[in-house]
Amino acid sequence: MARSYPVCAAVFVATAVLGVLLGVAASPAKAITAEQFSQLTYVQVKGSGLANRCPTVESNGSEVPVTAGSRLTNVCFEPKSFAVEFETDKGKEFATTKLTTRQTYTLAFIEGSLDANPITFKEQDGMDFAATTVKLPDGEYVPFLFTVKELVAKGEGSSFKPGFTWGGEFSVPSYRTGGFLDPKGRGMTLGYDQAVALPAMQSDGQGGQDELFKETNKVFDLGKGVIEMEVNKVNQELGEIGGVFVSKQPSDTDMGAKAPRTVLLKGIFYGKVVKA
Ligand SMILES: *[C@@H]1O[C@H](CO)[C@@H](O)[C@H](O)[C@H]1NC(C)=O
Repeated sequence: MARSYPVCAAVFVATAVLGVLLGVAASPAKAITAEQFSQLTYVQVKGSGLANRCPTVESNGSEVPVTAGSRLTNVCFEPKSFAVEFETDKGKEFATTKLTTRQTYTLAFIEGSLDANPITFKEQDGMDFAATTVKLPDGEYVPFLFTVKELVAKGEGSSFKPGFTWGGEFSVPSYRTGGFLDPKGRGMTLGYDQAVALPAMQSDGQGGQDELFKETNKVFDLGKGVIEMEVNKVNQELGEIGGVFVSKQPSDTDMGAKAPRTVLLKGIFYGKVVKA
């Protein structure tokens, strides 16, 4: 069974958030261009943390024009901060979190079609999801599948230039897949139908089973996320673009047992336009 959640972000104050992000996103010490990346050997990358970095763009020219039937390739999303929405007395707030996943959370080598006027990128392929876990100040762990699957991003015009903003919605598949078994051996397509250690709760008519219903009846939740991006560097000669992103997406639901939390990610992106 699959079910959908509505887009988590009704109002998205992208420009304000992007503006703040612009000041903190770059870390020049580790800046490495796509061309430099392509010259590294496996051993040079292994264990260095570089596989988790997006390439940077060296400015050249003022814009990268897009023509119909182009492709955007080698697209990379590297989050720099992870916040999780939680309830307070004053309403909803985003708590900054501590990342507990190692340097394996960047999305890379993504590609898709790119059309002009308005610029429209449709995500099709690549390493487009990364299981990630963050920890809230109160010690709660929040796992989520960081992704931009099936992203359709649009922006006005037909060329990328510094200040160009674009964005759109993407799909967020379940953090776990159908083959997952919980600690009591229950699963969606495999495993026990119910927790075998709780036989007394099966014979009580209704109440006990209601309590266990969500844990027992696993579902593959499909969520929706939304991303906003702003280009801040282009390389006309190489067709490269780079900039910052803010994305919002639901977290893991433990296969339907829990309500998803909203995760707010800010970071940098990279992409290379390849003409038809
Ligand atoms: C862009 O790069 C090319 C090749 O390196 C160079 O000839 C050209 O002058 C550069 N243009 C700008 C505006 O920097």
